[in-house]
This record gives sequence, C-alpha cells and structure tokens, in this order.
Amino acid sequence: MKRTFVDIKEIVGVQPSGVLRLQGAEMASTGTVRNAWLTVEDGLISAFGPMDTLPEDTGEKIDCAGSILMPAFCDSHSHVVYAGSREGEFRDKIEGLSYAEIAARGGGILNSADLLHNTSEDELFEQSIARVREVMAKGTGALEIKSGYGLNTRDELKMLRVIKRIRESVPATVRATFLGAHDVGRGYGKDEYVRIVCEEMIPAVAQENLAEFVDVFCDEGFFTVEETARIMEAGKAFGLVPKIHANEMAVSGGVQVGVAHGALSVDHLEKTTDAEIEALKGSATMPTMLPGSSFFLGLPYGRAKDYIAAGLGVALASDYNPGSSPSGDMRFVMAQGCIKMKLTPVQALNACTINSAYAMGVSGITGSITPGKRADLILTVPISSLDFIPYSYTTPFIRQVYLAGKEL
Ligand code: NIG
Ligand code: FE
Repeated sequence: MKRTFVDIKEIVGVQPSGVLRLQGAEMASTGTVRNAWLTVEDGLISAFGPMDTLPEDTGEKIDCAGSILMPAFCDSHSHVVYAGSREGEFRDKIEGLSYAEIAARGGGILNSADLLHNTSEDELFEQSIARVREVMAKGTGALEIKSGYGLNTRDELKMLRVIKRIRESVPATVRATFLGAHDVGRGYGKDEYVRIVCEEMIPAVAQENLAEFVDVFCDEGFFTVEETARIMEAGKAFGLVPKIHANEMAVSGGVQVGVAHGALSVDHLEKTTDAEIEALKGSATMPTMLPGSSFFLGLPYGRAKDYIAAGLGVALASDYNPGSSPSGDMRFVMAQGCIKMKLTPVQALNACTINSAYAMGVSGITGSITPGKRADLILTVPISSLDFIPYSYTTPFIRQVYLAGKEL
C-alpha cells in the first residue's frame, strides 16, 4: 500500500541512512524539511521532499496542512510489566521517606515482586498491555521492557513470557531485557542469588529466547561492581547484550564497569562525576537519563549538557515503573529534557528518538525519518513549531500516531 502525506508544514528528525546515533554537536541536527511531502510504502518510509518535488503517483493522499511530522518516540528503558501499583509508598514518600528507606523496609521492588507473584500470567498480560497501549497512543513506537519483579526463576520467566506476548500483540517494536539482578529475591542470600541469576536464570531465559539484553541494578544497596561484571559476562556467554542501571543512588562505578564490559547503554546517571563522562568517551555505550525518576523521587537531573559538551550522545527514556516513575509519557520526558536539563527542543527530540533507538538496538530500523526505516510517525495537530511540544507540555499535540505506516 502506498500513501503520501502532503502539505506537511515541517518534517523534523530527518537523518541520512547509516546514522545510528548522534553525539556532541550532532545532537543539534534538526533534520528539517519545510512544506513537504512524505511517502510510505509497505510500512516503510520510501521518500520525501519539498512540495515542489511532489511525485505524480502519490497513492492515497493525507492532507497535513499546519502539522509537523516527526519520528515516533523510542523508549529504551521501561518496566511496564508489573502488577498493581504502589500508591501506599507514594504516600510514604510524600511524608518524607526516601526511595532507599522504603526499599530497606521491604517495600519498593520486593513489594512489586510479591504483587507479581500473586498475579496470574494472563492478568499480568492484561494489566501490562494496557500500559503499552497507553504509551503508543502518546507516541511511543519502540519500547524496551525489563523483567526484574520476579526475582526467582519461575516469576522472571513469567514476566519475560508476558513481554513476548506483548511483542506479538502490538504494532510497536518491543525489545526485552532480563533484569533478574534488580534486587535480591526474598529468601535468598546475596551470593546465592547472584549464582542463581548466572547459572539458572540466564540459561533458562536464553533457552526460551526471551530477551535481547541483560541488565543489573549496580548501585549502593543493590549489586556491586564485581557482581555486575559477573552477571554481564554470564549474560554475554548466552548472547545477551548488557544494559546497566547505574549511579541512581550513589556514584556506583556502574558506568565504568558497563563501558568495560561493552554495555549498549548505562542508565539513570543522576549521581555522576566527570570520571563517568571520561569513561564514556570513545565507547559505543549510550548514556541514558531518566528525568521521570528525578522528577518523581526528587533526585538531581542528569548532567546531559555536560555529556554533550564532552562530545557524547545522550538518550532520554521514561523508566515507566511503579516505584520511581509511574509514567511512560515520552512527551513529558522530552519536556523535562528541556525544562530541567536545559536541552534545546531539537536535542531533546534526538535524545527521545534516534539516540534512544540506539540504546535499545533498533536505530537501524526506526527512530528517524530515513528512507527504508519503519514509518513510525507522529503527525501533530496544527502547531506553531516543534518547540511548542515541550513548551506547552500538557496541551494535546497528537493528531495521529502511525506505526509501520498504519494508524494506531
Ligand atoms: O529504574 N532503579 C531501579 N529500578 C527502577 C525502580 C524500580 C521500582 O522501584 O519498582 C528504576 O528506577
Ligand atoms: Fe529502571
């Protein structure tokens, strides 16, 4: 099927094919075509250009007067598969308890693990896919989803099977991450648990081909640098690519160990020093910041501008989860990138599209306006400029989301 968007006020997010991430000054690249057309064929972007070059054979025409056409968001860090919610802890937080204090009292991740344990796989699927449908409607076209509320082999596999069912049920691009090392499961000693993650869970996950990535919560009160290295290597032996939770609670060494072991991304980074920026230089690892958890937990925001000034790329993701970021709204993430992290709207857009696609290994197929990529697109309502999107951050801005060229 062929269809052409015509009279588009502005296409943003154009990148030449072969560009998989943007770093340093490249993050300011707007990739704009004004007064434009764009053709989609068989779910892929086939061509685009200014209106005075509109081809004769357009197929179905979609009139886009006044609208911006942009890549759909890519959300490279989420925990949307979870059971129930944690409003009780929300009240504790309001009354002054920190994330670490709640976790130390047996709340936090372990609370979600108990809820998940007592929820059937079908019910977990229904609750979770509702969240995925919500974020697709808000413009997310690619979504990474982690396990990590199972914390024993059976429940981790339950989560990953739910992620697989979601992947087979939605038009968004879904990637799965095994995060058995999110916390120590109830009833285990730390060493015993790390051993089970490496020797029992990872082989079982690989056996059923349930994940692309292996993740570890490398932070104060969770897993050490040594444990993290061991788990990453165990995952790599089964073909899983590392992604790390690092530097949320403390300067943890997680960035350095992630880079040393070839992590595709190191995520959170609320607490970082210049040493982390140095460690990332020249690596293939994408620093990924999660402003939603800074907002919700009252943590410092990642130093995105310093990373960019050092020549690095930065990705932004939602961290959608019940404990530290109960929102998967990537437009709100983009807005916080601007308002709190002082990125320009274009830098924030690139951080939420091509760079976050890179951080989940899909920037070769989505994340920018590039011929041959999936037509994962947001068509806005008539709008004054791209800047309006993060500026007026609660005003509805989406006219239609297209995933692989089809209306959602
Ligand atoms: O990315 N930091 C660790 N894991 C999640 C929070 C998980 C939870 O509290 O349920 C995060 O913020
Ligand atoms: Fe997370």
